[in-house]
Amino acid sequence: MNKLNVIFLTMLFFLISCGGSEKKNAKEKLVSSEISLIDMEKGAQLYRAKCMNCHMKTGGGIEKFYPPLANSDYLKKHTEDAIKMVKYGSNKPIKVNGVKYNSLMPASGLTDKELVAVFNYILNSWGNDYGEVSLEQVEAVKR
Ligand code: HEC
Repeated sequence: MNKLNVIFLTMLFFLISCGGSEKKNAKEKLVSSEISLIDMEKGAQLYRAKCMNCHMKTGGGIEKFYPPLANSDYLKKHTEDAIKMVKYGSNKPIKVNGVKYNSLMPASGLTDKELVAVFNYILNSWGNDYGEVSLEQVEAVKR
């Protein structure tokens, strides 16, 4: 009986500690290890000030006019092109999730550092899990 108790307690302990670390992992996954909460907040502020008018509060966009950023196949697959578009502006026709867009996005006027923050925000918000960009990557994007 005593032995069973010990086994039971060991298993319970094992289960609890496993559950705990899983929760921790899930939390860390929300914001990937390299992006600090401070950077995410900075990105969110820039997003609200510079992007939200067109791409909407939760990145849904307005179909046929302003493409979505949430769950955007374009942002996921062509992150570098997307950086170029936000850096220098764009009015070339693009397709996002199978829908054509051909309106104007003006150049954001953001610095490269600000672009890193806003991109890491949109790459990791609203269910997006699209990795992250570095300052070197953003600096390397030319017209
Ligand atoms: C005036 C409205 C407007 C504003 C403000 C704006 N965008 Fe856009 N955005 C657009 C339009 C329109 C397109 C499609 C451009 C095209 O067809 O070439 C686009 C395309 C994009 C794309 C690539 C397509 C996609 O949906 O994945 C990204 C990424 C993006 N914008 C991010 C941003 C970010 C980040 C900001 C803020 C710094 C921003 N946009 C501000 C209108 C806007």
